[in-house]
Amino acid sequence: MSGISRGSNIAIARKIPWKDYKTVADVGTAQGDLVVQVALANPHLNGIGFDLPAVAPIFEDYVESQGLAGRVRFEGGSFF
Ligand SMILES: C[S@@+](CC[C@H](N)C(=O)[O-])C[C@H]1O[C@@H](n2cnc3c(N)ncnc32)[C@H](O)[C@@H]1O
Repeated sequence: MSGISRGSNIAIARKIPWKDYKTVADVGTAQGDLVVQVALANPHLNGIGFDLPAVAPIFEDYVESQGLAGRVRFEGGSFF
């Protein structure tokens, strides 16, 4: 999933005026590449990835590999 969405995620990370915000959440986050790219490009932001609980280990491994475990966290649940 991250390979497919990476280009869009980097564009979102760079083009939205994130300076006006403190927290970003991706609802349906999968591995978390959107919230990871936004957090990497905007060090003042905290991030939340929301997805089904089974996705947590995949998300958390990726976030840790990017050095963002202190700023980006997982929330499990269903958006229904
Ligand atoms: C297209 S992927 C998201 C891609 C991701 N935003 C990215 O940038 O790489 C859709 C995600 O929605 C999640 N999803 C599907 N049904 C869901 C539900 N009911 N509640 C929460 N997440 C759900 C899937 O587990 C999947 O990770």
